[in-house]
Amino acid sequence: MSEIKACLFDLDGVLVDTARYHYIAWKELAESLGFDFTEQDNERLKGVSRAASLNILLEIGGIELDEEEKARLAEQKNSRYVEYIAKMDSSEILPGALDFLKECRAQGIKVALGSASKNAMTILDNTGLTPYFDAIIDGTHTSAAKPDPEVFLLGAQALDTAPAHCVVFEDAAAGILAASRAGMRSVGIGSPGTLGEATLVVPSLKQLSVSALQEFFASV
Ligand code: BG6
Ligand code: MG
Repeated sequence: MSEIKACLFDLDGVLVDTARYHYIAWKELAESLGFDFTEQDNERLKGVSRAASLNILLEIGGIELDEEEKARLAEQKNSRYVEYIAKMDSSEILPGALDFLKECRAQGIKVALGSASKNAMTILDNTGLTPYFDAIIDGTHTSAAKPDPEVFLLGAQALDTAPAHCVVFEDAAAGILAASRAGMRSVGIGSPGTLGEATLVVPSLKQLSVSALQEFFASV
């Protein structure tokens, strides 16, 4: 199959350990509204935009609110989340992620971010990851949320690379679906139970090298 010429990375849960901050901030909000929010519930929010996440959370709690009140709660959750990420540094880069980004650069593979987050730049800057990207597409550039392929198609376009030569790295089922709708192969970071639709699933980027990936994808 086609050679890999570009890697498109999701941010939260793939490169940095922010998925847990999202979870804690949503859980705090749910508890302030009087219901519990479990890690299993949280799987439904991964990769999903802030507004859509709030709708899912309110559905779980059986709560109906008007748009004004929803905007206030989304802002409340984001303020808590921003407090957490303001303290981040490079120690919160996930295992293997930095080496993988460096290897991409060394092998001439282009690199883009494809994240739903509007806080992506703060996280990339605080962890020192910004210089590793040739293009950054985040929640401030997109109008449709994953599983819509928009974020990855914009990334491929910014890198001037055809989707068939791109590989997406994702920890969310919605992101894996977005990759396949974009005509791209994908690597799921996490467990095959939730990411079974990915071309390949690994527990973390530590288990993977760019050369091993080229070899694997040469056969699929
Ligand atoms: C995604 C996360 O990367 O970004 C979601 O997986 C999150 O959990 C979404 O809701 C939007 O993030 P933010 O930072 O704009 O609220
Ligand atoms: Mg993610």
